[in-house]
Amino acid sequence: MPPSRRRFLRNAASAGLALPAFAQTGLSPNDRVQIATIGIGGMGFGDTRNALKDPGVELVAVCDLYTGRLERAKELFGDGIATTRDYREILARPDVDAVIIATPDHWHVPIAKEALKAKKDVYLQKPMVHKISEGKGLIEEVQRGKQILQVGSQYVTSSIYKKAREIIQSGQIGQLTMVEAWLDRNTATGAWQYTVPPDAGPETVDWDRFLGSAPKRPFDATRFFRWRNYNDYGTGLAGDLYVHLLSGLHFATNSKGPSSVYSTGGLRYWKDGRDVPDVMLALFDYPESPEHPAFNLALRVNFKSGVPDERFGFRFCGTEGSFTTSYDTLEMVRTPDESAPGYTIGTFTKATQEAFLKDYNEKYPEMVRQNRGRVVENSEYKASEGYSAHVAHHEAFMSAVRTRKPVVEDAVFGFRAAGPALLCNESYYKKSILYWDPAEMQQART
Ligand SMILES: NC(=O)c1ccc[n+]([C@@H]2O[C@H](COP(=O)([O-])OP(=O)(O)OC[C@H]3O[C@@H](n4cnc5c(N)ncnc54)[C@H](O)[C@@H]3O)[C@@H](O)[C@H]2O)c1
Repeated sequence: MPPSRRRFLRNAASAGLALPAFAQTGLSPNDRVQIATIGIGGMGFGDTRNALKDPGVELVAVCDLYTGRLERAKELFGDGIATTRDYREILARPDVDAVIIATPDHWHVPIAKEALKAKKDVYLQKPMVHKISEGKGLIEEVQRGKQILQVGSQYVTSSIYKKAREIIQSGQIGQLTMVEAWLDRNTATGAWQYTVPPDAGPETVDWDRFLGSAPKRPFDATRFFRWRNYNDYGTGLAGDLYVHLLSGLHFATNSKGPSSVYSTGGLRYWKDGRDVPDVMLALFDYPESPEHPAFNLALRVNFKSGVPDERFGFRFCGTEGSFTTSYDTLEMVRTPDESAPGYTIGTFTKATQEAFLKDYNEKYPEMVRQNRGRVVENSEYKASEGYSAHVAHHEAFMSAVRTRKPVVEDAVFGFRAAGPALLCNESYYKKSILYWDPAEMQQART
């Protein structure tokens, strides 16, 4: 049982107070987890619903800065939940074991650090940090205490990436040489033009609290509801979306990260006042490590890509096969490594060709002398019907909260994805190659 709850139960019992819900049920206190959500917008609602799929989880409070969402939370989760605009009130509650933090990116680290200090377990939405400089401080805060912190890139728990990891680690596609990944969108909401509610105003929105450490400016509903479009609060395409791709890749390859990045792109279509690009491409060098051979990675996100629906995928290329993934499928083609080098002799004289072939056929007597077109396996893996990586990721978190065993996507894992992703933004703005030390998790000179 988390220490805070143990302490609370002891204090409550000695003070003769009514015990909380979990203490009155047939469930063992260890099975029962009381949560609160801080930042209950699009993802906060999704995360809360997914966490509540576990019958042992109870929502006790939510925090948000827009009144409409606090009211909506009561509509959805019942009048019994407490609501507040001040996350510190949530952290001060002894009946909260764990918090989901799904605020805009600039609030991730400040709230997560305070939550850890308040002895709450933390499900922290990605990207773990808003700035590279915040990474080590949060890792240290986690290491100082005994709390669980899991970052919310659900691909790390996805059955598709488990399959990808299994294929790579077992050598089924030979030696990994290159990986590409893409995310194509074509709609206004896909490009972060989220709806601004008609009642948005200084009365319903706590603008000053939203700004936090961001530069002060007058109330602006567009900035509040479409914060992803501004570097002051969001992290652009790289922080929002590359982070998912890097998390999935690092899990599948067991990698600590790249040694260099170069990113380019531009604001090609959604010129609505945003200060982040809507097309971004990045190239990464992954150095040889005990976990994997050196390979290259190419990522791209395009918010005006001419496709009818969102397309997301990875292609892993190895010396003996390749596979592509989407949200819920993995298709693999395996082809044997060449057993003979083949030849290109058509431009040589007849006599030279004959002499070459005599020699070649003696040297490579096997039937297979060239590899072109040979496929030894063509297979498809599908996630089971109704499978949700989001739900699975919450299950992983709750399991860690109950067992106190470490999570895969801890703060170090989260920063190993967020650090290089945010370096892409710096590379984009500086128009230069930047270097990263994946072991030390910091920018390097070369
Ligand atoms: N894992 C995923 O697939 C996934 C998907 C979407 C979003 N996300 C992440 O979730 C986070 C939230 O994104 P979203 O799309 O839900 O944004 P959103 O704008 O819909 O919701 C954010 C909410 O946070 C509230 N908020 C802002 N500052 C706050 C503060 N200091 N205290 C309390 N509440 C505060 C806002 O009022 C808003 O309702 C982001 O970090 C994003 O990267 C992850």
